[in-house]
Amino acid sequence: MTIRVDQLVRAVATALDIIEGDMFGVGTNHGKRVAVLCAAMGRRLGMGEADVAALSTCALFHDSALTEYMLYLTEQSGKAGLYLHCIYGQRNVDLLPLPGDAAGVVLYHHERADGTGAFGRREGNFPVGAALIAAADTLDVQFPLQNMPGRYLDKLRAHVASEAGKAFTRDAVEAALSVLDEDMLEQLRSGHIRETAERLLPPWIAGMEDAAAFRLAALAARIIDYKSAFTRQHSVQIANRAWLMGGYCNYTPEGRAQLYLAAALHDLGKLATPLHILEKPGPLTAEEFAIIKDHPRGTHEMLATVGGLEDICRWASEHHEKLDGTGYPFGRNADALDYNSRLLCCLDIYQGVCESRPYHPRRGHKETMEILRGMADKGLVDPDIVRDMDGCMENWSERSLPPPPQASEAVDSALSGLPDPLPA
Ligand SMILES: [Fe+2]
Ligand SMILES: [Fe+2]
Ligand SMILES: [Fe+2]
Ligand SMILES: [Fe+2]
Repeated sequence: MTIRVDQLVRAVATALDIIEGDMFGVGTNHGKRVAVLCAAMGRRLGMGEADVAALSTCALFHDSALTEYMLYLTEQSGKAGLYLHCIYGQRNVDLLPLPGDAAGVVLYHHERADGTGAFGRREGNFPVGAALIAAADTLDVQFPLQNMPGRYLDKLRAHVASEAGKAFTRDAVEAALSVLDEDMLEQLRSGHIRETAERLLPPWIAGMEDAAAFRLAALAARIIDYKSAFTRQHSVQIANRAWLMGGYCNYTPEGRAQLYLAAALHDLGKLATPLHILEKPGPLTAEEFAIIKDHPRGTHEMLATVGGLEDICRWASEHHEKLDGTGYPFGRNADALDYNSRLLCCLDIYQGVCESRPYHPRRGHKETMEILRGMADKGLVDPDIVRDMDGCMENWSERSLPPPPQASEAVDSALSGLPDPLPA
């Protein structure tokens, strides 16, 4: 079974765009517009399709470290945060076995040709791909490309030309001027950008058990977890627990990989939930609770756009459904919920109870299992799964479960030598 990795990258990027829009007021689909512009500019400069695929993935993920950066900002000064998000963003794309060259492409996306950027590099001393992202990113922040009337095209082009050797490298200016026409403006508009991205960004297909799928899932889990200081290990640990359970159930390698991906992506929709609601220490209002309860629907909407992920999308978005139909957001019951959906529900409860939250301290394995058994007695969760988990998780509740080998090798090498932005 294969999956469209490029579509999954775009699904995760959609969630990132929502965050960036909230934080910096850039129009939604910012990452997609930057990626479409970069792909078009890269082709004009003669890049091959493999490098265009790598560049457009970097462009979609250029600000993927913003969730980490946002947490970092609360503890450190803003300026350090700016260049740190370049370092962590590069590390994020390095986790993916990209089909082409991505060295330094995210790391240097805040450089300027005149050497006044984040690391003070001058034109010629940072990669062309980084220069293209820098130009596209800056233009999308400075101009309303999501709905810009065609009559402003001359102004936009004149601005691009005037920045040659200053903000933008000469390569980037030449490429930008060759792609910025009325047709491109039309393609970038809000009503068209999703379809444009689907059409102009190169397809990237991988097997379900390939490192590309595992590492992308591990990266997505990390981005989701960094949204809140309270959930820094949540998705990553659920994915690792799911991997363990898949082995216990004697799943085929492909079935185990699918379960891992579903677990890693289950809270993708939470990226769109406002932080002040996620971290509210007091009781939630009915309206706030309704917003929280809707996050699996967000997971469903984003994953439904990815070819090859149909089952994964269903399992991931059913993780808050209960056997008696009282779960959310779909209210499905035992007749509709298969083993993996039931398992993810139990793993989510287990991990949540093991974590400290604004409203409860972390609890150990025994206490967590008592809560789960109580829920099984009430007919909410599957008693057989609860029993199986008791045996499997016993040795792991106090420690972090290791990731699958397909994910850990890359994670270990990419993380070595870099300090974590936040102490554990
Ligand atoms: Fe950035
Ligand atoms: Fe950006
Ligand atoms: Fe959830
Ligand atoms: Fe969760």
